[in-house]
Amino acid sequence: MSREIRINPSILNADHDHIHEEIARIAKVSDYIHLDIFDNKFAPNFSFDWKLAQEIISRSEAPIDAHLMVCDADYIGPQYAEAGAKSVTVHVEATHNISQTVKNIRSHGARASLAIKPRTSIDDYSQYIDEVDMFLIMTVEPGFGGQKFMTEMLEKISRTRELIGNRPIWIQVDGGISQETIEIARDAGADTFVAGSAVFRSLDPAAMVESLRQLASNVKD
Ligand code: DX5
Ligand code: ZN
Repeated sequence: MSREIRINPSILNADHDHIHEEIARIAKVSDYIHLDIFDNKFAPNFSFDWKLAQEIISRSEAPIDAHLMVCDADYIGPQYAEAGAKSVTVHVEATHNISQTVKNIRSHGARASLAIKPRTSIDDYSQYIDEVDMFLIMTVEPGFGGQKFMTEMLEKISRTRELIGNRPIWIQVDGGISQETIEIARDAGADTFVAGSAVFRSLDPAAMVESLRQLASNVKD
């Protein structure tokens, strides 16, 4: 079965001193721009502060897919939706009232998504399937760009696809996605791909986005 796919470049490893220009280089060929936000508590990193994040959301030509790796997700998730992010992902490990937070995010017109860290089971959260627009299966530990894709997550991606079946809920993979790994992630059942260093370490980021899209679209029926 061929399904619609999306390529969402992560700007975590782009040049932060020229972030709006970096986004402009890829906006036209990207489905969403993936914006990684850290509080240095949930994961050991810090990326964009709230003021810059708001500027990015309002200036980007492509919609923003905010991935919030923060402890206070119940409060911060809806804030990003209110600021205009079109998709907001909170971690199940950091959200106290998942159903209410998802509703609050959606009340601002954004898609709502739940992220699952590598050591967290999807089965423990399957009761939320009919409440969300997407699951993000982390294929690295949250924290940094440039890490190696964890092939042991392929089983979790397949399990998520099995649980979702044909419902129109997206499955995003994030971490180590490149020309080498995008097809195995797609074959396991993912349809929405985050790629950070593969895009921004390449000489032509927009061409890399196109190449990843091409690879992910070549479905053997
Ligand atoms: C990791 C972030 C990822 C990261 C992806 O905590 O959530 O979005 O930027 O970067 P690459 O593609 O380099 O693994
Ligand atoms: Zn991310």
